[in-house]
Amino acid sequence: MTATTDVQKISILGKESIHCGFHLVPYIVNTVLTELPASTYILITDSNIAKFYLPAFEKEFRSTLSGLLNGTHARPRFLSYIIPPGETSKSREGKAAVEDFLLLNKCTRDTVILALGGGVVGDLVGFVAATFMRGVRFCQIPTSLLAMVDSSVGGKTAIDTPHGKNLIGAFWQPEFIFIDAALLETLPSREFSNGMAEVVKTAAIWDDSEFNSLESRSAEIFAAIQTPSTNYAGRSEKTRSDAQKLLLSVIIGSISVKAHIVTIDPTEKGLRNLVNFGHSIGHAIEAILTPTILHGECVSIGMILEAELSRQMGILSQVSVGRLTRCLKAYNLPVSLADPRIANLPSAKLITTERLLDIMKVDKKNQGNDKKIVLLSRIGATYEQKASVVPDGLISKTLSESVTVVPGIPSFNPVKMTTPGSKSISNRALVLAALGTGICRLKNLLHSDDTQVMMAALSELKGAKFEWEDGGETLVVHGGNGSLSVPPKGKEIYLGNAGTAARFLTTVCTLVQKPPTGESETTVITGNARMKQRPIGPLVAALRANGSEISYLESDGCLPLSIRPNGLSGGIIQLAASVSSQYVSSVLLCAPYANEPVTLELIGGQVISQPYIDMTVAMMKTFGIEVIRRVEKDTGKLLDIYDIPKGSYQNPSDYSIESDASSATYPLAIAAITGTSCTIQNIGSSSLQGDAKFAREVLERMGCEVNQTATETTVQGPPIGQLKAVEEIDMEVMTDAFLTATVLAAVANGKTRIIGIANQRVKECNRIRAMIDELAKFGVSTNELDDGLEVFGKPVEQLRKGVSVHCYDDHRVAMAFSVLASLVPGTILEEKRCVEKTWPNWWDDLQNKIGLEVKGVELSTPSVSLSSTPLSPKSVILIGMRGSGKTFIGDLAASALRWTFIDADNYFETVHQVGVRQFVHENGWPAFREAETKLLKDLLTEKGHDHVLSLGGGIVETPAARDLLKDWVSSGGLVVHVSRNIGEIIEYLGTEGSRPAYGEPVSEVFERRATWFAECSNHRFINHVEAFADGKIVVDPTDTKRGVREEVSRFFHHISGVSTNLAQNLMPGHRSYFLSLTYPDIMLALPKLEELSAGVDALEVRVDLLRSKEDIEPLGKHIPSETYVADQIAALRRVTSLPIIFTVRTVSEGGAFPDHAQKEAFSLLKLALSLGVEYLDVEMQLPEQTIKQLVARKGATQFIASWHDWSGRLKWNSPEAQAMYNIAAQNGDIVKMVFTASTMQDNFDCQAFALKMNGRPGAKPFIAINMGAVGQLSRILNTTFSPVSHPLQPSRAAPGQISFAQVQKALHLIGELPAKKFYLFGNPIDHSLSPTLHNNAFETLGLPHTYELLETAEVGEDIKNTIASPDFGGASVTIPHKLNIIPLLDQLTPAAKVMGAVNTIIPTNDGATRILVGDNTDWLGIRGSIAARVAVGQIHAALVIGAGGTSRAAIYALNDLGAKVIYVWNRTRSRAEELRTSNLDMNIQVIDELGQWPSGATAPNVIVSTIPASETSFEDEPDRLFYPASLYSYRDGPAIVLDLAYKPVETPLLKLAKMTASNWDTAQGVEVLLQQGYAQFEKWTSRKCPQGIVSRKVWEVYYNRV
Ligand SMILES: NC(=O)c1ccc[n+]([C@@H]2O[C@H](COP(=O)([O-])OP(=O)(O)OC[C@H]3O[C@@H](n4cnc5c(N)ncnc54)[C@H](O)[C@@H]3O)[C@@H](O)[C@H]2O)c1
Ligand SMILES: [Zn+2]
Repeated sequence: MTATTDVQKISILGKESIHCGFHLVPYIVNTVLTELPASTYILITDSNIAKFYLPAFEKEFRSTLSGLLNGTHARPRFLSYIIPPGETSKSREGKAAVEDFLLLNKCTRDTVILALGGGVVGDLVGFVAATFMRGVRFCQIPTSLLAMVDSSVGGKTAIDTPHGKNLIGAFWQPEFIFIDAALLETLPSREFSNGMAEVVKTAAIWDDSEFNSLESRSAEIFAAIQTPSTNYAGRSEKTRSDAQKLLLSVIIGSISVKAHIVTIDPTEKGLRNLVNFGHSIGHAIEAILTPTILHGECVSIGMILEAELSRQMGILSQVSVGRLTRCLKAYNLPVSLADPRIANLPSAKLITTERLLDIMKVDKKNQGNDKKIVLLSRIGATYEQKASVVPDGLISKTLSESVTVVPGIPSFNPVKMTTPGSKSISNRALVLAALGTGICRLKNLLHSDDTQVMMAALSELKGAKFEWEDGGETLVVHGGNGSLSVPPKGKEIYLGNAGTAARFLTTVCTLVQKPPTGESETTVITGNARMKQRPIGPLVAALRANGSEISYLESDGCLPLSIRPNGLSGGIIQLAASVSSQYVSSVLLCAPYANEPVTLELIGGQVISQPYIDMTVAMMKTFGIEVIRRVEKDTGKLLDIYDIPKGSYQNPSDYSIESDASSATYPLAIAAITGTSCTIQNIGSSSLQGDAKFAREVLERMGCEVNQTATETTVQGPPIGQLKAVEEIDMEVMTDAFLTATVLAAVANGKTRIIGIANQRVKECNRIRAMIDELAKFGVSTNELDDGLEVFGKPVEQLRKGVSVHCYDDHRVAMAFSVLASLVPGTILEEKRCVEKTWPNWWDDLQNKIGLEVKGVELSTPSVSLSSTPLSPKSVILIGMRGSGKTFIGDLAASALRWTFIDADNYFETVHQVGVRQFVHENGWPAFREAETKLLKDLLTEKGHDHVLSLGGGIVETPAARDLLKDWVSSGGLVVHVSRNIGEIIEYLGTEGSRPAYGEPVSEVFERRATWFAECSNHRFINHVEAFADGKIVVDPTDTKRGVREEVSRFFHHISGVSTNLAQNLMPGHRSYFLSLTYPDIMLALPKLEELSAGVDALEVRVDLLRSKEDIEPLGKHIPSETYVADQIAALRRVTSLPIIFTVRTVSEGGAFPDHAQKEAFSLLKLALSLGVEYLDVEMQLPEQTIKQLVARKGATQFIASWHDWSGRLKWNSPEAQAMYNIAAQNGDIVKMVFTASTMQDNFDCQAFALKMNGRPGAKPFIAINMGAVGQLSRILNTTFSPVSHPLQPSRAAPGQISFAQVQKALHLIGELPAKKFYLFGNPIDHSLSPTLHNNAFETLGLPHTYELLETAEVGEDIKNTIASPDFGGASVTIPHKLNIIPLLDQLTPAAKVMGAVNTIIPTNDGATRILVGDNTDWLGIRGSIAARVAVGQIHAALVIGAGGTSRAAIYALNDLGAKVIYVWNRTRSRAEELRTSNLDMNIQVIDELGQWPSGATAPNVIVSTIPASETSFEDEPDRLFYPASLYSYRDGPAIVLDLAYKPVETPLLKLAKMTASNWDTAQGVEVLLQQGYAQFEKWTSRKCPQGIVSRKVWEVYYNRV
C-alpha cells in the first residue's frame, strides 16, 4: 500500500526529514518502524485528535508489528497516551504526567515518541523527549495548520508557567516531521485561519509570488479543507485533486521558507528573527487576549500594525499595507483591534498603548531597552535581514487610536504632491475592467476598504481575476466578459460600510446567470450595521420593475439583499435618482450586459450629482461603449434619458486612474488656511470629477490665488486669518467637499452659507449634523438648513483649543478637521483609522509630504462626554418648573455650601428696576425672554463662582439660553434640575401670583419643557416637600424639615465635590459593609431603616428588585420605570444620609434585570448619576462604549466595577480571575468580584487572591466574596464593602448573605475582633445614662464590647491601671476629671486643646505602640443639636449663658456652625471676658443683661445655657437668675434654645420659650448627651451609632428616673 503513497520531502538542517502528502498513516508507521528501530513506540495526542485518528494509527501499528518476525529480540511495543486538549496541558504538571506515564511503562532510552497533534502536543512532547533519559528520539505529526507550518518545524519545544508562555524549553530536533494535509479536514475552520496567519506571514517576509497566490486563491484554499477527500484521494499524485495540490503547495511553500531560515540560523541569532514579523506587537496583544483570541489572530493584527509602522517610517508603501490587509481578511483573520470579535471582549478594554509597550519590553529580540521589530520593505522582503531597532515613540504613534496635529507652517511649503487614486474612478474602473474582455492594467488604483471590498466581491462572483504587478503598483485585471456565478452556498458577500460597492454590486449581482444545473441559489450581499441603514430602495425598485427578483432580508429599503440569478432583462428602466447618483451609475455600468438594450429614464424630480453620472458615461466610452443622452428636439435641452447599446467592454491594456479630487481638497485647504502654497498633480480643469472645481469655486472666492492647468492645480492661501467668508456657495456638484469648505468657513471673517448638500445627511454619518456638533466644540456657531448650513466664522485665536473631535467613523470628517487642526492647537482627531476608506496613509502623508507633525494620542475617555470635573468651584445653577421649589432648595443649598444664593427673578428686578410680571405686561414675552437670556449670560460671567443661581422656569424656552446652560455643563459646571410632582406644583401655583400666569395649562408647559430640562442639566434633585409634609413617608413627621435640609446639604456637597458623602471606612485597616435592600418598594423599609442599617456604611438599592404596585402583578416585567426609581431614591434619602450604592443586577449576574435590556440599564445608570448617587455598580460585561460613556459623566460618583460568576465555573487562582480584576481595576474606583464557592478551599483562595491584589501599590478597594452557603466565610473575611442582609428583611439579596451583627460575632469567634472594655471616669456618676447608651449600641451591632462605670475621687492608680490594660477600648471622662486626665494622655485633638478639657479617650495604634488620644465631643453634642434645627450659616447671632468649661464647648460649636456673633453672659463678667480674650479669632461680645442686645444688632436665634436650671426662673424670684421673654425676640425664622441641664425635664428657660414664640424650638440636656455619645461611639468603633434604638432606651431610663 505504501508503494502508492507519494510524498514530497523537504530538507532541514541538511536532512530530508520533512515528508509531506495526504493520508500518510501507513507511510508514517512504516517509515518509523524501518528507520527508527526501538523497543517502544509511544504516540501522544490530545483527546480531540485521538477521536479522529488514534484508531487508524493503532490499527496500523498493531498489524505491522504483529506481522514482524519474532526473532531474538522481543517484539517492539506500541503504546498511546492521551492528554486533555488546550494550552493548559503545556505545563509543568502536563509534562510530569507524560513523564510519569513513560516511567510507569518502563520506557528506556531507545523509546521513540510520536507527537500527534497541534502545537500544544508538539511543544510538550518535544520537551519531554528532550529531557527524558537525557533525550530520546521523537517525530512530529502535526495536525493543525499552525503546527504544520510553524511549531513542528525548527526544533523549538517548550512549556508554559504562570509567569508566561514558552518560558521553559529546549531546542530538540525531531527525527521526522510528517505533514499529512488530509488531517486538516477535521480541523475547525477558525484553527485553519489561525495557521494561515503564519503562512501569510512567511510569504510576506520572503516570497512575493507565493504571496500573490495566497492573495488571489483564498476561496480555493478554503475549499480544499472543506471538501473531505474520500477513499484516500490524494495519497498518490494521480488521485490528487487540484484543490489538494494547491493546499499542499501552500503548506510546502511555507515550510520550505521556514526550513531554509532555520537551517541558516538554527538557534535564532539573527535571520531567524524574521519569522517574528507581526509577533512583536502580536505577542503583546496575545498576552492580554489569550486564551480567547488565538495566536494567529493576534499575529494577524500585529502584522498590520507592524506594516503600518514601516509605512509611517517611509519604508513600506500603502499598496503593500493594503494587500496584506486584504489577504489576511480573505482568510477570515482580524486585521485591527476594532474587529468586533475583539472589540466586544471584556479584556479588550485592557489594551492600551502603554500596556502594549510595557509587555513588549520583555521580548527576547530586544536590544537592551530598544525594541526590535521586523520591518517589511515590500511584499516578500524585509528592510533588514534581521529585526530593526524602532523607537518607542514611533510604535506608540502607530498603536494609538487617536492623533493630534502640531499646528504650524507646513515645512514642505511649497508642497507638491499627488493624492491617492479617485475612489469613484477606481470603483468604476474595477467594474468596467472586470466585466470587460481582455487584460487591463490599472494604475494608481486606490487601495482602500471600498476597492478591496469590490475586488473581493468580484472574485467571489468569479467575475474576474486580479493580480498585482510592480510590487502592487499595478493591478492586472483579467476581465470575465460579464460571466458571473453565485458564490458557494451560504457564503454572503460582505461589504462592510462600503457604500459605492454596495450600490454598484447590486446591479452587478442581477447579471449573474442561472447555473446550467438549474440549482436555484441566490446571491446575498450584506454589510455592517451602518450599511444596513443606508438606502438602496430606489435602485432595488427599478431593478425589480425590470424583472429582477430581489428581496430584502432584514429591513425594507436596505441591505442585506438576496438576488436571484436571472440576468438583467433590459429594455426601459425607470429609476428615481434624487437620493444618489450611484444608483444611476450602477445601472449604466451593467446595462450593456442586459438581454435587451437599455433605456434608462431618471424620474422623481431633481437628479443628484450629475457630474458623477457624466463620469460614468465618459469612462464607459473609454471602455468601448457609447451611451447616448437624449436631448429635447426643439430646445436642445439635455434630458434625463440614456440609451445604452448591448455589448461588451473592450479593456484598454492600460488605464491610469485620476487622483481623487475630494482628497485633494485637504492639502489645498491646508495651504489656504496656513497661507502657504500647494500643488496637486494629476488633477486639473479637465478632470472627470466635480470636486476638481473646489479650488476655483470655493478657495478662490475665499481669497486664495488659484492656478489650474488641464492637469494640475495650485493654491496659494492668503496670510493667516484673512480667509473671506462667502455669502452663498452651492456645492451640489462637489458635495463631498463641503466638509472641507465648512472648516475653512469656521475661520473666515463672516458668515458662509453652504447649500446643495442635502445628500450628505445619508453618508457614512449625517455629515451636516456632525460638522455642526463638532464645530460647536470649537465654539463656532452654525445654523442648520434643509440642504446645507451656515457657518459663522471666528478669528482663529477665539477658537477653543484642545478640542477632541469625534469622527463618526467618517474619513471626510477626520480629514476635514485635520485641516482645522493645522491651525488650532491641541485638536485631537479621535479614531484616526477611519481615513482608511479613501486615504489610508493620510496621517503619514500629512507629516512626510506636507510637513506637519502628527502625534499619537491616547484618549482616556472619548469626547461623547459632556461631563464635569467634580471639584469645580463653579456656581451651581438650578432650573425647573415654576413652583418646583428652586428658591427653597437653592437657599438651603447655598447656606449648606456657604455660598451666596441668587434668585434670578429678584436679580431681574434689581437690574431692570421693575418686577417680572410688570416687565412682561409692558414689553411682552419675547422681550422678556431676550432680557432673561442676557441676564443669564451676565450672571454666568459675574457670579460664575461660589453662587447658587436659581433661574426662572421658562429660561429653557429660549434656544440661546439652553445653549448657555449646555455650555455650562460641558465646561464643568453643574446645572441641577429641581423637579417636583406636577400635581403639587399646580396646587402650589394656585396660591402664588408674583409671576405672570401661564397662558396655557401648566401640564402642557410641563410636558414641553421636560426634555429641555433634562438636556440642559447634569443633575436632578427631586423635591418631595409636600409628600413628606403629609407624613406619608417619614417615620417622624416632625423631622420633615430636618430631613430635607440634611438631604439638600448632602446632595449639594456631594455633587459639587466640596465634601463628598462617601463611606469613611472604605480604607485599608478598616472593615466596611453595605446593606442590600431587597424590598420591591423601599417605602416599606423606611420605618425600620435605622435598625436595618445598624452598623453598615452604605445602602445598596437593588434596582432590579424594585417593583411598583402596578409592576407586581404582571409577571416578567422586570424593568422599573425611571420615575419610580427616582422616587424611591428620593424617599430613602429623606430618612438617611448613608451613601447609596445603585445596582442594576442582570439575570446572568444573579439579579433580576433582563440581560438583553442594555439600553434600559444604561438609562437607569445615567439616571443614578444625575441623582448624584455616591456609588454606582457597573457590570463589566456591559459594552465597553456604555462603560466609557458612564465614566465620562460620573462626576463625584464612585464606580464599583463588578463581575459575578453565578455558574461556579471561575476559580480565584485562574488567569481569568486575574484578567477580570485588571479590567475592573481599570474601570472602577472599587473592584468587586463575586464567584460561587463549592468548597471551603474556594474561600481561602478568594482570601489569598484578595490579599495579593490588595498588596499591590495603589491597589483600589476590593470586594472579593463567594456566593452560596459555603461562601459565607468569605463574606466574614472580606474587608471592603461586605454585602450584608438583615433578619428583618423579606429576603436576602444573594445566597449566603448574612447580617452585620452575625459577621461581627463570627469575627469575634475567629479572633479578628477581640472584646474591649470601655469606661466612664468621673464622680459622681451612678446616675449616668452613658452605659445605657453604649451597651445598647454594642449589642445592636453585635459587637462583643462592654461599657462600665469607674467612679473614683481622683485620677489615680485605678484609672492608670485601667487605661494601661490591653483590653482597654476607650473611656468617657466627666466632672471632675476632665482636666486632670490630660497628663496621662499622649495626644490631644485640636478641639480638646482649644477647650482645654477632655471628655473622651481614644486608644489608637501607631504601628507597634499604642497612643492615647484625648478628645472632646461635648461640642459635637451641642453642634449636632443645633444643626438639626438651624442650617449651617443661618445663625445670625447666638447667646451663651454661663462661662464654664461647657460654655467653651458651646462657643466652639457655634463658631463652627458659622454664627456671625456670639454673645456671652455670665454672672461674673470677668469670666466671660476671659472667654472672649482666649478666643480672639471669633466674634464674641460680652453682654451685661440678658435679653438686651447691643443697639442695632440682631437678636440671637440660638441660645445655649450651661448653668444649672435650679438657679433660674422666668418669674422674678429671689436668688434666681431671671429670664426675660425678650430673650426670644427673634421671630424671622428657625431658632433653637438648648438647655444643657438634665433636670428638670422642662427647665424654666425651655418653658419660657414654648410660652413665648412658636418659631423657637427647644432641646434638653439629654439630647446633647446623646449627640456627644453618638460621636464618642463613632470615634471608638468607627461605626455609626444606631441612634434611634439607643435614644429610645436612654429616654426610657431618663423618664423612669425623673
Ligand atoms: N515551537 C514553536 O516554534 C512554536 C511556534 C508557534 C506556536 N507554538 C505553540 O503552538 C501552540 C499552538 O498550537 P495550535 O494552534 O496547533 O494549538 P493546539 O495544539 O491547541 O490545537 C488547536 C485545537 O485544534 C485541535 N486540533 C488540532 N488538530 C486537529 C485536527 N486535525 N482535527 C481536529 N481538531 C484538531 C486541538 O485539539 C486544539 O483543540 C502554542 O502553545 C504555541 O506556543 C510553538
Ligand atoms: Zn507564531
